[in-house]
Amino acid sequence: VPTAVVIVAAGSGTRLGYGLPKALVPLAGAPLLLHALRGTAGAGLAEQICVAVPPGDTELTALCRTFAEELGATAPDIAVVEGGATRADSVRAALAALAPGIVHVLVHDAARPLTPPEVFRRVCDALDRGASAVIPATPVVDTIKSTAPTEGDAAAIAAEVVTGTAVREQLRAVQTPQGFDAETLRRAHEVAAGWDPEQAAAITDDAMLVESLGTPVYVVPGDLQAFKVTTPLDLHFAETFIAAQGG
Ligand code: C5P
Repeated sequence: VPTAVVIVAAGSGTRLGYGLPKALVPLAGAPLLLHALRGTAGAGLAEQICVAVPPGDTELTALCRTFAEELGATAPDIAVVEGGATRADSVRAALAALAPGIVHVLVHDAARPLTPPEVFRRVCDALDRGASAVIPATPVVDTIKSTAPTEGDAAAIAAEVVTGTAVREQLRAVQTPQGFDAETLRRAHEVAAGWDPEQAAAITDDAMLVESLGTPVYVVPGDLQAFKVTTPLDLHFAETFIAAQGG
């Protein structure tokens, strides 16, 4: 089945504190995006890889071009598009640049550089079995509570107070790549393009847009190695992990 992988790499990376787009932040001597490109191409499932880079970027674009040259003609075609202000805008820009005839689309964060190929395969297998939407996920280890800001006298005690506790056994921590039937993902993003800014700001993954269409989103096992690099501690952990693997 003709499959494309969208890699979203247009984030600012402010939480890492590098003053660089996150995808350019070095990990074991290579930018995060290069790890994601190698992992994605290495999984061997994509005819096309479409990378969304920050508007005005030149460095990540050059990195994609060099990677494509190294791969040669037989490997997936690499396309580069300008991302947008939000992750969903970046995905929309990439969807507009997909090759005609693409049937399945995986959307992957550049910020998950150590995602094993098995996760890509599990997602694609579920699409092949008929799913329109598939996410990889792991059980949650922390107890998750909702909170609200304190008011009045309570504000002198602490800034927030608990409003509820979720049932942990029902919760999953969701990773990427998330896989979709291309038409379903396009439709979901078209609908979300009309949402008001507050709703749009609450979009954190693609699957939630498909959920809002009422389409079932299936869950396959993720992998702890597919964790997202968000904070300096995550980067430190990724460095240590690679060093322990001998690479
Ligand atoms: O900010 P967060 O860590 O959730 O970003 C997840 C992924 O989405 C990252 O790979 C980031 O580069 C990407 N992103 C994007 N365009 C944006 C914001 C985030 O491609 N405007």
